[in-house]
Amino acid sequence: MKVFSGSANFPLAQKIAQYLGETVSPRELFVFPDGERRVQIQENVVDEDTVVVQPTATPVDSNYMELFFLCDSLKRSGARSVTAVVPYLGYQRQDHVFRDGEAVSLAVIVKMLESIGVDRVISCDLHSIKIPEFFTIPMTHLSALPLFAHTIREENLLKNSVLISPDMGGIRRIKQMSEMLDGLPYAVLEKDRNLDTGNVAIVRIEGEVAKRALIVDDMISSGGTIVKAADFLRQRGVEEIVIFVTHAVFSKEAPKLLQESLITKVYVTDSVYVSEEKRFAKLEILSLADMMATSLRDHEVTKQSF
Ligand code: R5P
Repeated sequence: MKVFSGSANFPLAQKIAQYLGETVSPRELFVFPDGERRVQIQENVVDEDTVVVQPTATPVDSNYMELFFLCDSLKRSGARSVTAVVPYLGYQRQDHVFRDGEAVSLAVIVKMLESIGVDRVISCDLHSIKIPEFFTIPMTHLSALPLFAHTIREENLLKNSVLISPDMGGIRRIKQMSEMLDGLPYAVLEKDRNLDTGNVAIVRIEGEVAKRALIVDDMISSGGTIVKAADFLRQRGVEEIVIFVTHAVFSKEAPKLLQESLITKVYVTDSVYVSEEKRFAKLEILSLADMMATSLRDHEVTKQSF
C-alpha cells in the first residue's frame, strides 16, 4: 500500500504509514503565483492500492483542491485503488438546507470525490450519523470515542464525574460514551445558535451535574460552544471541567479562549494538525493513526470486503 499526503497533516500521514510498515511516498505540491495548485506524484503506482491522507479543515478549499488533484493523479497513473483518508471532513456541517436558497455543500464535495473515481473514504466522528449515506462508494466512519474512554480510565477521571454533551445533537455520542464507561451518568445541554452571527447560548440542562464534568463533542471551531458550556456548568456547581473533542479546528481565538477559560484540560486528536502557534498549555493531542492504519489494513479496497 502506498501512502501519500497533502499538505494538511503530514505528521499524521507519516504515523499512519509507519503503522503500515511504509513511508510516505514522494509527491510535489506547487502553488502558482495566481494561487492555482499543481500536484505531481513521484512514484510508480501502477496496480497499487494507494491512500491519500488529507483532512480538510482550514484552509478548507485549498485542502480539498489538493485532495481532489492527488486522487485524480493517482487514478490517471494506474493505481488499482485510491482511498481518501479525510479524518476531518470539511463542509460536513452543511449537510442540509438550513435556510431557503442555501446549497447542500457537503453533497457537492461528495460528488467531486466520487466523480474523480475515489474508491473509498475514511473519516472520523462525523457531525451526523446520516453523512455516510451521502456516499455511494464505501465510506468508513471511525470514532475517537474508544480512545477517549481509554484516556478517561487511564487518567482516573471516572470518580465523581458526569459526561456532558454541549448540545442535543450530541446525545447519541454521549450515550455511546456512557456505555463504554460502564454507564457513567450523562447530561445534555440545550444550545441555541444564532444562524446569522454564529453566537451560541446554553439555555438549559437535561440531567444532573457532578463535581467533575467531562464534556464530549465532535469539534471545536470558534470555541464558543465549549466555553459557554463550561461557564454554564460552573454556575451550577461543577468544580472541574475536562474536554474531549475529536477535531481541533481551532478557528479565530479558540486556543486563547480555551486557555483562559475555567477548563482544566482539553484533549483533542490529531485529525487536524494543530500548528505550534495554536498549541496551549491545557491542550493534549491523542493520535488516531493506529486506528486509521488498522482500518486501512483490514479493509483494503481490492479485498472487496465491504
Ligand atoms: C455543533 O453542533 C458541533 O457539535 C460543535 O459543538 C460546534 O460546531 C462547535 O463550534 P464552535 O466551537 O464554533 O462553537
